[in-house]
Formats: sequence, structure tokens, C-alpha cells
Amino acid sequence: MTDSWDTIADWYADLLQAGSAMHDFNRDVLLQHLPEELGGHRALDLGCGEGIIARALAARGASVVGIDPSPRMIEHARAVEASHPGTVIYSVDDGCVLSTVVADSVDWVTAGLSLNNVPDLDAALAAVRRVLVAQGSLVFTIPHPCFEAPYASWTQAADGAVRRVVGNYLTEGFWRSDNPDGARRAGNQHRTVSTYLTALVRHGFVLEAVTEPVPSAQVAAAQPQRAGLPPFLAIRARRA
Ligand SMILES: C[S@@+](CC[C@H](N)C(=O)[O-])C[C@H]1O[C@@H](n2cnc3c(N)ncnc32)[C@H](O)[C@@H]1O
Repeated sequence: MTDSWDTIADWYADLLQAGSAMHDFNRDVLLQHLPEELGGHRALDLGCGEGIIARALAARGASVVGIDPSPRMIEHARAVEASHPGTVIYSVDDGCVLSTVVADSVDWVTAGLSLNNVPDLDAALAAVRRVLVAQGSLVFTIPHPCFEAPYASWTQAADGAVRRVVGNYLTEGFWRSDNPDGARRAGNQHRTVSTYLTALVRHGFVLEAVTEPVPSAQVAAAQPQRAGLPPFLAIRARRA
């Protein structure tokens, strides 16, 4: 069977609920680009998965809707919500369409590690722009395209250090990791940094922040070979 986000949803939900240093770090990096206090704000979490980011937005006081095209992922998100004091509403929807979200209805769109999964970035940015209020912002993270390019791997250098080996950075498109323990066995859309940035500008967004975070102490402890490599690229862009 070929994996998809729906077929690996149980594995992904178990991974995050057991505590994943990398996903906790991703959530924290993304949240650093939003105000601490979100009372009175409306947020859409695009590609919410089992809800790690949606719940954190709700904990800051936002009223939050989470969407994901994987019905199984949404089942997990709703199950966690049922045992959680939060108020997040979840729907099955495609980030390239956002058919369940009204135009001009949210102050923030967050997308943690999900825009690198949408097949059509232009469609997703047009949909995000449609649902954001004027001056609303999109905050997203993606695996850093420079270091998480298709089939990037690790090698031991002559000095004993473990180094990242990257090829095919400029070759965009869908690829699937053959790592049976990796999330990207579900597939991933590789795009260059310039493709993301120029698409944002083309869709009328103004860049407010671009961040390449230093791995957290927890990530560095779990994966010391990642020292000096930002695992994610984080971007905040305002609807002009
Ligand atoms: C790596 S997970 C991230 C989930 C969550 N944001 C988190 O931080 O754990 C990627 C998510 O993108 C979702 N996804 C895939 N295609 C998508 C699409 N067309 N629109 C929106 N989300 C999509 C997947 O179903 C999956 O839940």
C-alpha cells in the first residue's frame, strides 16, 4: 500500500502525543511569530494534523478552526479536543480550496509543516488570501528546503563529523521518502526558497519575518548531527 497522510495519521498522532522534540520545536518556532495574547482574534490552522498548533493558538485565547484533508487526522484532532478544555472546531478541507472557510473571516492563518504538502502552492495562497481579513497574516513553517531537499541524507566525513548531503535542491516536485519511520513517506512537495518567496509576493503578501531557527536543546540532544542546521524555515507574511 502506498502511504498517504490518512494512512499514517494514527502513527503521526501517536508520535506527537508521546512527545516529539522536533514537532514541539516547530510549534514553538511558529508561535514565536504571533502575539502572546490572542483573545478576540480568529485563527485558521491550515493542515492542522492532530491539532498541536491549533490547541496552542486556542490556549493563547484565539477562536480557532483547524482544517486538514485527512479525515483520520481530523478524527484524532477531535478526539484530543474532546478530552481538552479547548474550543477548536475541526473540518475536513483542502488547503488549496478552503471551501469551509468564509472570505475575510480570520485574522491569522497558520500552517505548520503543511504548505510543503499542498500540491498547488498558488491555489493555497489564493485561498489563504481570500479568507484573511485585510492586514491579516499568514505564519507558516516548512522543512528547510535547502537541507531537507529530496533524498537528503547523512554521511560521516573524514574528520568523523556527521554531515548533511544534499542533492537535487533545484529540482522541484513531489517526492516520497523511503524511510519507513519518517513522516515524508507520505510524500512531500519540494520547492525552492525563491519559489515560496516569489509566490507570496505574487499573491500580494508583504514579508514581515523570515527565520531560520537554531535547533532547540531538546532537538540537539535527540539529533546532535543537526547542530548548525535550521530544521525549518519560518515565514510571517501580511496580506497587503
Ligand atoms: C507534517 S503534518 C503537520 C500537521 C500539523 N500542522 C503539525 O504541526 O503537526 C502535514 C499535514 O499537512 C496536511 N496536508 C496534506 N495535504 C494538504 C492540503 N492539500 N491542504 C492542507 N493540508 C494538507 C496533512 O494531512 C498533514 O496533516
